[in-house]
Amino acid sequence: MKLLVTGGAGFIGSAFVRLLLGSADAPRVINLDKLTYAGNLENLEAVAAHTNYRFVHGDICDTALVDALLTEEKPDAIVHFAAESHVDRSIFSPSPAFETNLRGTFTLLEAARAHQAPRFVHVSTDEVYGSLEAPLEADESFPLNPSSPYSASKAGSDLLARSYFTTYKLPVLITRASNNYGAYQFPEKLLPLMISNALEGRPLPVYGDGLQVRDWLYVDDHCRAIRAVVEKGREGEIYNIGGSRSLPNLEVVRKILAGTDASETLIRYVEDRPGHDRRYALSSVKIMRETGWAPLTSFEDGLARTIDWYRQNGAWVERVKSGEYRSYYARNYDNRGSELRRTGSARRVPKP
Ligand code: NAD
Ligand code: TYD
Repeated sequence: MKLLVTGGAGFIGSAFVRLLLGSADAPRVINLDKLTYAGNLENLEAVAAHTNYRFVHGDICDTALVDALLTEEKPDAIVHFAAESHVDRSIFSPSPAFETNLRGTFTLLEAARAHQAPRFVHVSTDEVYGSLEAPLEADESFPLNPSSPYSASKAGSDLLARSYFTTYKLPVLITRASNNYGAYQFPEKLLPLMISNALEGRPLPVYGDGLQVRDWLYVDDHCRAIRAVVEKGREGEIYNIGGSRSLPNLEVVRKILAGTDASETLIRYVEDRPGHDRRYALSSVKIMRETGWAPLTSFEDGLARTIDWYRQNGAWVERVKSGEYRSYYARNYDNRGSELRRTGSARRVPKP
C-alpha cells in the first residue's frame, strides 16, 4: 500500500503520518506539503527517518509537480488534508483559502482523474453544514450552509470532489470531521491558544458570550477514522466523524483553566467573530455502522494529555509563537477590545 498524503506537516496530517508509520505494517507514505506558517517538519521528527517515508516540499496548486509525483509514485490512495484551515485568518484574508482549498483541490482532482488514482479521500469538515439550532444534528445528507470564507471554500472543494465521483467515477470518499484537538496543534485554534496562554499566564480571549457550541474530537481518534475510511469506506460516500462531545466554549476554557492551575481572572470577553457559527453538531452513526470506528478518548482524558503535551513542549510552542504568529496575534486580537466580564457579549473597547 502506498499513500500520497497532502498537508502531512500540519496538525492532523502529521498525526495521520505518525499513525501510519508507527504501525507494524506501515505503508509507504509520500507527504506533499508547502510548509506554510502551519506546516512544521518538527511534527514529523519521530518518523522522518522511516524507510517508508518521503517528504516532498511543494504546493498542491502546482500542476506539473502533482502530475510528476503521481507519474513517479502511482499511489494506491491520495489522502488530502492540505488546506488553509483557520476561520479567523480566512476572514482577514480569504485569498489563500480560495487558492489552496479550491484551486489546490481542483488541481489534485484533475491529476487524480488523469492518472486514474484508485482512491481519493477528501478531508472536509462539519463547518460545511453551517450553524445548527439545537437539537438538530447533521447527517451526511444535510444541506451545506457555510458561513465563513474558510467553510465556504471547504464546502466548494467538498462539492467539487463529489462531482468527480458523479461525473468521472473517480473513486472519491469524503470525510467531515468536527473540531480536533491534541498535540502539535498550531496555537491559533481555541484549545492550543487557550492552553498555551494559560500556561504563560496570559489573557484568554473568549469571543462574544462564549456560549458557542463545538463537538470535540481527539486528533488520534480522527486519524483512526480516516484510516478506516481509506481501508473500508465505500466509493462516492461521505462520512461524518464526530467526537460525540458537545461543549460551549466557556466550559472548555474553564476546564483548561482547571487543568493548568490558572486563574479565572485570565478570561477576557472580546468582540465576537463576524458571522460566528453558534453551534455545530453532527451524527457519526454511518462511519460507526460501516467501519466499526468509534472515538476512544474522552474529552477529559484527551484534554489532560493535550495540556501535558503543551507543558512538556515549551520549546516547540515558543518557536511557533515567534515570528509570523506575533503579527497574526496582534492583527486578530489587538483591536478587539476586552472586558473583564462574566456574562453578556463584549463590545469594542477603543484603544487608549
Ligand atoms: P493545519 O493548518 O494544521 O495544516 C495544514 C497543512 O497544509 C500545513 O502543513 C500546510 O503547510 C499545508 N498546506 C497548506 N497549503 C498548502 C498547499 N497549497 N500545498 C501543500 N500544502 C499546503 O490544518 P489541520 O488542522 O491539520 O487540518 C487538516 C485538514 O483537516 C484541513 O483540510 C481541514 O480543513 C480539515 N479539518 C480540520 C479540523 C480541525 O479541527 N483542525 C476539523 C475538521 C477538518
Ligand atoms: P476555532 O478553534 O477557531 O475553530 P472553529 O471556529 O473552526 O470551530 O474556534 C473554536 C471556537 O472557539 C469558535 O466558536 C471560536 C472560539 N474562539 C474564541 O472564543 N477565542 C479564540 O481566541 C479562538 C481562536 C476561538
